Amino acid sequence: MAFKRSNVPGEDIKLAMGMTAKRRQLIDETPATPLVYEYGVNRLAKALHPGYVKALIADKVSCSADCWKITLASAGGVFPYFRAGQFITLSCKAGESFLSRPYSIISSPKDALAGKLEIMVQRKGLFSSFLIDEAPEGTELWVGEPSGDFHHDDIRDRGHILAIAGGSGVTPFLSMIKAVSEGSEKFRLTLVYGARTRAHIPFDPDAFKCDGVDAVIVLSEEEAEGYRHGFITADLLSEYIDDDTSVFMCGPDAMYRFVRGELQGLGFDPSRIRQERNSVGDRKVDEIKHFNLIVHIRDAVYELDAANNETLITALERAGIPAVVRCRNGSCGFCHSRVLNGEYFIAAKDDFRRSADKKFNYIHPCSTYPESDIEIDIPIMNP
Ligand code: FES
Repeated sequence: MAFKRSNVPGEDIKLAMGMTAKRRQLIDETPATPLVYEYGVNRLAKALHPGYVKALIADKVSCSADCWKITLASAGGVFPYFRAGQFITLSCKAGESFLSRPYSIISSPKDALAGKLEIMVQRKGLFSSFLIDEAPEGTELWVGEPSGDFHHDDIRDRGHILAIAGGSGVTPFLSMIKAVSEGSEKFRLTLVYGARTRAHIPFDPDAFKCDGVDAVIVLSEEEAEGYRHGFITADLLSEYIDDDTSVFMCGPDAMYRFVRGELQGLGFDPSRIRQERNSVGDRKVDEIKHFNLIVHIRDAVYELDAANNETLITALERAGIPAVVRCRNGSCGFCHSRVLNGEYFIAAKDDFRRSADKKFNYIHPCSTYPESDIEIDIPIMNP
């Protein structure tokens, strides 16, 4: 409605009064239904963070002596896009227990948009053994949002990634290699993978043949044509390092210590080394003691047994209590909970709490062990 100012005295008031009537008429004609607003940024946030997505086991294939590739198909909802190298948390009910565990994604971000996620599962631990031995195709699982910062970042990382892996630690790099081959990641990648023998390699090295990707397999207990023999030493690493290299490592802690020592010997800048964190597992104790664990989830209260060698998350899941969890190594803060009473232990290397958390007795149950009877308040899980 245009309002043109008049130079005639009193004319403005007459025009304004006419405008009021016109406004009333427009208001009366407008339906009383609320306007629908959806901003692009909200749509994007919803697509990237859909919460838990229901999925089915679509396929299981053995890929080495102790590793299986499991393909998940969406069973409602869409798998979100992710950065190659990130992990998902799988959860499901198995008997009386509620099981959950993070797995690196080995398929590419493009596959996720097509409704497919692949993970590699090593026969180690309760949930992985359940997936391999007891969960048939068609088993329903919940898939948490992709998480983790173990992915290439143009600002932080160099253009060439020297990816060093052992055992099932190759998994995030399989996703990166696929993303590079599909063009959704632009960096160069050299994979240096350590295995005992060819039978222990859980992937097909020939599948890596593409522009921007090179693979070097180092066998410690077998000599074979086309493979290096020995260990991932400074001599070997020096062949693949240049001024534009960042090192990414994923594997056992012993491998991290050894390779870091070798890189240090080469004078490699430690700020260009990144390593994926491993889940916090059971700890060694002189004597296994059992305590009473009281858990509050909003108004619900549970009472259960917890041992001093297992994390509080493990005790909760064993009792079938669906606890909020993601990284399982104390770093993401997703399981952030409050201790109301009791003593506990967190290893310094797994303690990523802020000083305010420590002051007000907040913990991450995925990296905390009970040291006495203990009472905690944990967040509710919303699948
Ligand atoms: S799940 Fe990440 S801190 Fe506990």
